[in-house]
Amino acid sequence: VPAKGPPGPVRVPPYACQRPTPLTHPNTSLSEALEVLAEAAGFEGSEGRFLSFRRAAAVLKALPSQVMAPSQLQGLPHFGEHSCRVVQLFTRIFGVGVKTADRWYRDGLRTLDSLHEQLQRLTQQQRAGLQHYRELSVPVQRPEAEALQQEVEAAAVDILPGATVTLVGGFRRGKLHGHDVDLLLSHPQEGLEAGLLPHVMCRLERQGLVLYHQHRHGHPEDAARRTRHSHTMDAFERSFCIFCLPHPPGAAAGGAHRRAVRVDLVVVPVSQLPFALLGWTGSKHFERELRLFSRKERGLCLNSHGLFDPEQKMLLRVASEEDIFRHLGLEYLPPEQRNA
Ligand code: CTP
Ligand code: MN
Ligand code: MN
Ligand code: MN
Repeated sequence: VPAKGPPGPVRVPPYACQRPTPLTHPNTSLSEALEVLAEAAGFEGSEGRFLSFRRAAAVLKALPSQVMAPSQLQGLPHFGEHSCRVVQLFTRIFGVGVKTADRWYRDGLRTLDSLHEQLQRLTQQQRAGLQHYRELSVPVQRPEAEALQQEVEAAAVDILPGATVTLVGGFRRGKLHGHDVDLLLSHPQEGLEAGLLPHVMCRLERQGLVLYHQHRHGHPEDAARRTRHSHTMDAFERSFCIFCLPHPPGAAAGGAHRRAVRVDLVVVPVSQLPFALLGWTGSKHFERELRLFSRKERGLCLNSHGLFDPEQKMLLRVASEEDIFRHLGLEYLPPEQRNA
């Protein structure tokens, strides 16, 4: 049916985990603008404003067509007066320049953020390394992420036959580039994964792949407790790494630049693997909303370790991510539809 004027309002369910969110959508500049405002609010410590902007941004990402007029926002969840006014402002005044400026700003924030987190813990030399890393740093491309996954998997399998290494984070959601590479290490036999990570790191260091790494011990005894008390931070054994890739793609061999890439390695006992997969695939906003939905709508506590029913006082058993969606009474969303 040919439409006259802009399309009318669409029905959008309130939680991001109740609706598909593709990687690409027609409202990128608007959603990015709202995300910048969210980041800025979060940076100032204003959690309430952070969440309202972030939720409004996520709603825009799920819309099937481009918002041309503020009237199209009527009836959408999380579009209060403030976010509506912001969109109005952006559609009328800022125009296309917003997108580039926002991306630049956001990248800056991200870099500062990761630097800030780490700076206190580092020695002078390591700080220099990190600064150096910042200069060299450009987004990781999917082929690089896949190559790294294979390197780590080869090392892990060599040390412990049957070990698995799964690429998660943005790349599992179909992103073509990202700010880091997130990998989950596991083994189909529960318990065999223990002690694997330090050996893998040694092997990779000998191969000259590691510029920097910082190990954090796991707290396996904490896993169940964390689920009961709905902790958001997980207790897995983990390594925060900067890996070195030989050359940027397409660059001449022997060039001055080696590539530095941020890598997160996480060790997961196989019984918790579906939860860790779900938790580490993201997006961060999707996870936040999924956990909120679990608690508010289902009375269940979800995190990267498990799903806890406080009434029955028991952890629910699952074999896959699909099982988790089923327990929550949600339509299954594959990773590429979790880009909220
Ligand atoms: N995550 C987590 N605990 C952490 C860090 C990250 O559970 N300490 C989860 C995040 O919630 C997210 C996923 O791991 O769901 C990936 O995080 P991150 O690498 O920060 O984001 P990506 O979605 O991979 O985006 P990018 O491409 O920028 O890396
Ligand atoms: Mn990532
Ligand atoms: Mn990130
Ligand atoms: Mn990460």
